[in-house]
Amino acid sequence: MRPEPFKIERYFARYEFTTRYLLCASDCEAMTVDDLLAYEPGAAEAFGRHWLGYTESPGDPALRAAIAATYQGIGQGIETDQVLVHSGAEEAIFSFMNCALEPGDRVIVHSPCYQSLQEVARALGAEVVPWQADPAAGWALDPEALAGLITPRTRAIVVNIPHNPTGYLMPDEVQAALVETARHHGLWLFSDEVYRGLEYDPAERLPAACERYERAVSLGVLSKTYGLPGLRIGWIATREPEILGRMAAFKDYLTICNSAPSEFLARVALRHHEAIAERNRGIVRDNLALLDGFFERRAERFAWVRPRAGAIAFPEYRPGGIEALARDLAERAEVLLLPGGVYDAGDRHFRLGFGRRNFPEALAALEAAL
Ligand SMILES: Cc1ncc(COP(=O)(O)O)c(C=O)c1O
Repeated sequence: MRPEPFKIERYFARYEFTTRYLLCASDCEAMTVDDLLAYEPGAAEAFGRHWLGYTESPGDPALRAAIAATYQGIGQGIETDQVLVHSGAEEAIFSFMNCALEPGDRVIVHSPCYQSLQEVARALGAEVVPWQADPAAGWALDPEALAGLITPRTRAIVVNIPHNPTGYLMPDEVQAALVETARHHGLWLFSDEVYRGLEYDPAERLPAACERYERAVSLGVLSKTYGLPGLRIGWIATREPEILGRMAAFKDYLTICNSAPSEFLARVALRHHEAIAERNRGIVRDNLALLDGFFERRAERFAWVRPRAGAIAFPEYRPGGIEALARDLAERAEVLLLPGGVYDAGDRHFRLGFGRRNFPEALAALEAAL
């Protein structure tokens, strides 16, 4: 297989480490190893003694148990052996698509989307059909439209909830309808949940798809809600043993096992996941309040669909030409926006990221440059 270049990654490769104000980062504020170890007395000393041998291929059992415990236990709940740890979310996406799909299969993908959620399937020879979010309806998904996209060749539905890049969080009844459709047709449901836990109203948090549907694969990671992307620790959770087994065997040809120091640190993070998520929800809440003011002041040029979860949004630049504006802002003011073209979503929308502590300064730089 030969996937097309990953447009977001190519864009970031050019600007991420050279532009002063990253106003489109998808993750929350990271921290140092010392900061993380400080969450737990004795952890720093234990880290120094941690063994650097190969680790267990499916993931350290204690880490898998800690991940399983983060699911609420709706339905049958998630057991330790129903979790498979990966190198970030990205490896798990690549593995799932390779293990679940055959050339000629039809895959329905929540769109616009994080590119690998569709591109890996396409490169494997699957037919990718968008389940299009509606910008005029706050980027909502229509369950009836989904039902109309299914044919006998359909093998999987891929969704991203909460959504990158729009921050859309589907209501419970839409997730229920989605699960019913998938169950009725016996489809895989791959649910990218990398922003789960960053809902602004905790009452709106959905069950993980794997808790609601026996053929669902939920994707989680420490990169976004927890702000620890450098650990490269992601996972899938599923109650379906067949896909779990296939993905475990496929990992032998990918990273084989995870980084031992990362697994140690991930265990510490997961033991304190609520405190870390709350720290990040606080940053996001404060930054969103600034964004509300920004869009109110500039309503004639920007249309703002306020997200319901996550650390990113996808506002519209009404005059169009966001790609040229983003290039100009990067070069002239060192402010980085992510134009919607990298999502094949036209030249008006752009991704904003507000999970970082220097966001107020970055937003002020944008406003001054505009
Ligand atoms: C929706 C979504 N899924 C998966 C990933 C990949 O995550 P990671 O970088 O942790 O592998 C990202 C990263 O931006 C993402 O936004």
